[in-house]
Amino acid sequence: MPKSPHKLSSLPPLSPLPPNVYSIQDAGRARLATRNLIPGTRVYGEKLVSRDGIEYRLWSPHRSKLAAMIEKGMTIPIAPDSNILYLGAASGTTASHISDIVTDGRVFAVEFAPRVMRDLIGVCTKRKNMVPILADATKPSSYRAIAGNVDVIYQDVAQPNQAEIAIDNARECLKPGGHLIMVIKARSVDSTANPKHVFEQELTKLDIEFEVLGKKGLEPFHRDHLALVARRLHQEDLG
Ligand SMILES: C[S@@+](CC[C@H](N)C(=O)[O-])C[C@H]1O[C@@H](n2cnc3c(N)ncnc32)[C@H](O)[C@@H]1O
Repeated sequence: MPKSPHKLSSLPPLSPLPPNVYSIQDAGRARLATRNLIPGTRVYGEKLVSRDGIEYRLWSPHRSKLAAMIEKGMTIPIAPDSNILYLGAASGTTASHISDIVTDGRVFAVEFAPRVMRDLIGVCTKRKNMVPILADATKPSSYRAIAGNVDVIYQDVAQPNQAEIAIDNARECLKPGGHLIMVIKARSVDSTANPKHVFEQELTKLDIEFEVLGKKGLEPFHRDHLALVARRLHQEDLG
């Protein structure tokens, strides 16, 4: 069979890749990649590769929990026209790959640390579908006017109150039926408890407003992290 640059070979069996996410052969291995929205430009030192005149940015599951979720076969509900509220964008590593994916949508990137915000603003200046928001994710009413009614919330804040942050942001900013993609870092919630118990406790809180569609641990890429994809229940479905 002829080799396609986008053919999976060495990765484990996957759900279909999300739109605008590719698997590219590089140095004898299949690697995840997104098509570079700003050709010739790197965001965090990632490798750029060209195939058939198109430039891609390799996307390492060790650097990005979203890439790890895809490598682990999770179905990711992000479409090219999705609007995404990204909580905990840091300097834009993962957010920039989402920006490559949502060619007809937007990424509202919330971050509260001024030092990384400077780098994030640099990334957003080049990427016209990214909007930087210097704000505290525990106060979604402060950015609802800019980032209200999104299709997806992506949350990676590494805070003890992660479930509450997700619920509050969904109430303020997520469409009914919209999706939550979230990474729970056990050690941030409780550094002494068994991670399994921490995950169960956080999932129980989320159950009130979300239907969990998929969940997986992110080993071997990220230790003691649970990633989940959930759908926000409509008002009439809430108990
Ligand atoms: C694990 S890092 C995120 C890495 C990033 N998601 C990536 O993959 O490129 C967590 C980030 O969340 C930010 N953060 C933590 N609590 C926050 C809050 N309450 N509001 C906004 N940002 C927060 C931290 O400053 C940090 O940059």
